[in-house]
Amino acid sequence: MRDDFQSQYSPKVMEHFLNPRNVGAIEDADGVGTVGNPVCGDIMRLYLRIENGRIVDAKFQTFGCAAAIATSSMLTEMIKGKTIEEALKVTNKVIAEALGGLPKVKMHCSVLSEQALKAALADYFKRIGKKPPFELPKDDFEKCDMLEEEEE
Ligand code: FES
Repeated sequence: MRDDFQSQYSPKVMEHFLNPRNVGAIEDADGVGTVGNPVCGDIMRLYLRIENGRIVDAKFQTFGCAAAIATSSMLTEMIKGKTIEEALKVTNKVIAEALGGLPKVKMHCSVLSEQALKAALADYFKRIGKKPPFELPKDDFEKCDMLEEEEE
């Protein structure tokens, strides 16, 4: 059972799930984004500290599955030190690749991280009175695979 569970995920996913980086909140963050999958209930909140157009700190709080936590952790590691423009290139596919891949049925979990980044950046642009240079996250998350499996 344990082997089946672990074999779904790459060693890197397991490592980030068991030892997630940058967990927590940033007081007086420059941008905060909260996104969720209303079907499975997984929620991610991302806090950003931005100085001179560069993300100098990122922290997250995620209530979710192993893939959601691992991708949240990897996202914060990948965007720290990047300019906003560079950070926007960190898509869910880029995060999944950096984690050594995700099982197909778990790819949608990585979307939570990409959406949280966009939501936090949108919040930052709103606070500084500018229009974000990207499309805002959509609310319509794909149906959670976990629940689809339960329904079968
Ligand atoms: Fe991972 Fe729903 S986001 S199970």
